[in-house]
Amino acid sequence: MLREPPGVGLVEDIHHVRPWNGASRARRPVASVKTLAILSRKGGTGKTTVALHLAMAAWLSGKGVLLADCDRQGSAQEWRRERTIAGPVVFSTKTPALFATQQAAFRAGRDLMVIDTSPSASEDLAEAVRCADYCLMVLRPSFLDVRAVRETAELVSRFGKPGAFVINQAPPRRNGREMACVGDTVTQLTAMGRPIMPIGLRARIAYQSAVADGRSVQETHPQSAAALEIGGLWREVESRLWPSALPEVAE
Ligand SMILES: Nc1ncnc2c1ncn2[C@@H]1O[C@H](COP(=O)(O)OP(=O)(O)O)[C@@H](O)[C@H]1O
Ligand SMILES: [Mg+2]
Repeated sequence: MLREPPGVGLVEDIHHVRPWNGASRARRPVASVKTLAILSRKGGTGKTTVALHLAMAAWLSGKGVLLADCDRQGSAQEWRRERTIAGPVVFSTKTPALFATQQAAFRAGRDLMVIDTSPSASEDLAEAVRCADYCLMVLRPSFLDVRAVRETAELVSRFGKPGAFVINQAPPRRNGREMACVGDTVTQLTAMGRPIMPIGLRARIAYQSAVADGRSVQETHPQSAAALEIGGLWREVESRLWPSALPEVAE
């Protein structure tokens, strides 16, 4: 059982809201809880790694964050259990209960809900997309990942949701040049007509060691390329979730 900051009562609340019964497909996301869905029909693309790092980046910037773990494997929960210090609330839920979870997050005064999905059927993913203000489709720069992400992109388009691809586990540059698989992936994704996040994540051991320690690379390796990537990716996502937000300036 995860610890909840005193006085918030989010977990308790969740047990008192009935799961949404699917009656209205036109339902809109709950106002004021920005919702970011991390999607991929494939396992191992890095959904959980991206979801918890973005949740942490938001939390470190002072936002109230709920990470909704929809995967039965519970990887985000495992990460949170390793984390012995304060951090985002991680709540294990199922996609049919996402709307209720979102309502509970709203009542608890959260700013952001990040949904970590499972590599599940498109019906399940559809509910995450319905709830989302913005969708991030995570893939590795490989032929099979590109093939698999097409269906997810169509799903996001069907619901008229904004979203972008994010390339994860990209190999390092060789002699300053991007490997062919990255270029090929960018070409194929561009043809799908959805934006690609200008910042992707490279394959780095730092991500794995930070997760194993219940932390984020921004905490374990604050000056590293990994921390810069995550900070940059979060700023891109934040500007899409809160498009009118002005950067903080000194008075
Ligand atoms: N950028 C990265 N660099 C190195 N390892 C990564 C990266 N992203 C994910 N991984 C590793 O890949 C594996 C799958 O990642 P995970 O986030 O669990 O994917 P998913 O949630 O899509 O199944 C894990 O072992 C994770 O540590
Ligand atoms: Mg996962």
